[in-house]
Amino acid sequence: MNKPLRVAVTGAAGQIAYSLLPRIAQGEVFGKDQPVILQLLEITPALKALEGVSMELFDCAPSTLVDVICTDDAEKGMGDADAVFLIGGMPRGPGMLRKDLIQKNGPIFRGQGAAIGAAASKGVRVLTVANPCNTNCLVTQFHAKGIDPKQFHAMTRLDHNRATSQLATKSGKAIASVKNVIIWGNHSATQFADASRATIDGKPAYDVLDAEWLRGDFRSTVAQRGKAIIDARGKSSAASAANAAIEHMQTWHHGTAEGEHTSMAITSDGSYGVPEGLICSFPVTVKNGEISIVQGLELSDWDKENLQNSVDELLSEREAVADLLK
Ligand code: NAD
Ligand code: LMR
Repeated sequence: MNKPLRVAVTGAAGQIAYSLLPRIAQGEVFGKDQPVILQLLEITPALKALEGVSMELFDCAPSTLVDVICTDDAEKGMGDADAVFLIGGMPRGPGMLRKDLIQKNGPIFRGQGAAIGAAASKGVRVLTVANPCNTNCLVTQFHAKGIDPKQFHAMTRLDHNRATSQLATKSGKAIASVKNVIIWGNHSATQFADASRATIDGKPAYDVLDAEWLRGDFRSTVAQRGKAIIDARGKSSAASAANAAIEHMQTWHHGTAEGEHTSMAITSDGSYGVPEGLICSFPVTVKNGEISIVQGLELSDWDKENLQNSVDELLSEREAVADLLK
């Protein structure tokens, strides 16, 4: 047996974690032969509910689960962690934008970032899910002293999966036949889904589907899907968010398939004119845990304008948390 991986999950008594944790414990992220210790972090009032989650985890009799640690102490939660899912924080409700959460959720990531720097493994991989996830990721990264900034990501895999699924439904083809959509920008309404490199059954999406739809309804449906789910359920997405978090971490761990890319919000290196250091969604390939932004894609003037709009929003979010970046 391999040495157990320590996986920290914040917001572990919440609705996303409820879908996520059994799947990690069953080996869906790190492999069926990789034991895991789950380190579950919550606020103090949620510790009782967290005990219930822990009981249920053991009651799944999951093959790779070694131990569950429940705590409200961030350093204990992050202790020697190899992977961290930052899910703890308020979700938005009807009528809110994700960035309306910035003042409530932002400060959480100062303390948790510091705890990651102080206590996690130096090779830790951190995925920020709690919204606004790009900017929360920035705050976490800033405070996690001694950890390479490249080890902090935010999640746009849910948007990527939404875009993939929309193309499959519209074309009447299997979801598995759709490859290489791209999500650019912020995990917000300014993101844009790009089908210009996507293929459906090996054919360019623009040869299969109407260009007007691909530039119009397709994009707005993906960008507004979180809101549509809140309007329908009264609560934000949970099962699909947990699934996306699993797939993001799986891809980071196991890599992308030959000839395929995915979308991840990672630290910009200046590619495509996105200012260095912003956490922005790009098309990426992953090999041996190394993330590379797909280079050399031609963006139309309109796409450049859309990306700039999302970058401007990321800059204004960064400005809004300037006090947390000191
Ligand atoms: P939830 O309210 O069901 O659960 C959140 C949990 O976080 C609660 O149990 C709460 O006690 C806990 N929490 C709050 N502050 C904490 C702290 N400081 N430390 C540890 N735990 C803390 O919410 P949810 O539906 O699970 O959503 C969680 C977050 O994920 C929200 O911010 C939501 O907007 C975001 N989200 C992001 C995506 C994405 O694609 N990036 C998708 C869906 C939801
Ligand atoms: C989503 O995209 O479903 C999440 O970010 C939740 C939300 O607030 O929309």
